[in-house]
Amino acid sequence: MQGIGQPKRAFMYIKKHKSWALPEHLATDEHVYLNRRQLLSRIGLAGAGLAASQLPFASALAAPITGFPAPQNDAYSLDRPLTMEEEATTYTNFYEFGSSKNIWRKAQKLVTDPWMVTIDGMVEEEMVLDASDLIKKMGSQEERLYRHRCVEAWAMAVPWTGIAMSELVRVARPQAGAKFIRMETFHNPAVARGQKQSWYPWPYVEGVTMEEAMNEMAFIGTGMYGKGLEKQNGAPLRCVLPWKYGFKGIKSIVKFTFTDQRPVSFWEQLASNEYGFWANVNPEIDHPRWSQATERMLGTNERLPTQLYNGYEAQVAGLYKDMDGLGDRLYR
Ligand code: MTE
Repeated sequence: MQGIGQPKRAFMYIKKHKSWALPEHLATDEHVYLNRRQLLSRIGLAGAGLAASQLPFASALAAPITGFPAPQNDAYSLDRPLTMEEEATTYTNFYEFGSSKNIWRKAQKLVTDPWMVTIDGMVEEEMVLDASDLIKKMGSQEERLYRHRCVEAWAMAVPWTGIAMSELVRVARPQAGAKFIRMETFHNPAVARGQKQSWYPWPYVEGVTMEEAMNEMAFIGTGMYGKGLEKQNGAPLRCVLPWKYGFKGIKSIVKFTFTDQRPVSFWEQLASNEYGFWANVNPEIDHPRWSQATERMLGTNERLPTQLYNGYEAQVAGLYKDMDGLGDRLYR
């Protein structure tokens, strides 16, 4: 991972106004937006799997997923202060827009409504549907406070909004033989200039086992800090797997494929000796180029000891009980 391992300084941004926020007078009225959506579905574009940016008036559409702020689920609270929102939304990894952490301005080019999501592979019936319709089918959104730990050894505490990933599995109706879910990010180099860098194996891909997807901690994130996700954080929907290193948390997902083959992830393709499929947080297993014993909290720069499974051992250790102890194999 380019830049990984060289701790970058966390900047304390004090900004009164987010420059990516749409001024009120430019926002689309709900009825205009709904009519556009109806038109889209009438002319068949909504189901055509087209990249949002190919649609003529897509950039004028309002945010599709509603229901923010969602009620907090107290079962998922934290023992540490939340990271400042400005920090979590301006220090991000999204290689589609470049390898720097400071890509949030570039990410504003991404059109996230409409956003077609494909569910295919070993399912009863393949579907292509808008992200907002998928979320509606999944159920009610909730807020959960989770630790968020990057393999680069920085960490945050984030109030995510979303729905348990098990609800996605329920909607997808996988066949009995499905063992993994392969997830894929959009591919649009005209908008995401990082995707012009041909040495990366675009599009970004990640994967989980069906058991991992069904675990209560696995979450499909749609928001942060009581609002819809910012584009740089993976709007309109991403994966949140708090017991794993952050690179497993794939952003801006366009496809979920149910399969009996273990997916090979983006970073695994680039450096399988550094970024394994399991990628469970473990203070005992150092990255080949740096220690994982401690983590640096963004915003405060406080150093804290890394926790096994990022502190979620009680919830997830059972997933790995049949493997050979807590050896390297868990990470790779
Ligand atoms: N998803 C995509 N599509 N592209 C990326 O570059 N980076 C990953 C992950 N998901 C990445 C991605 C990494 S390395 C991390 S640590 C987290 O996103 C960071 O999430 P955040 O920027 O919202 O904190």
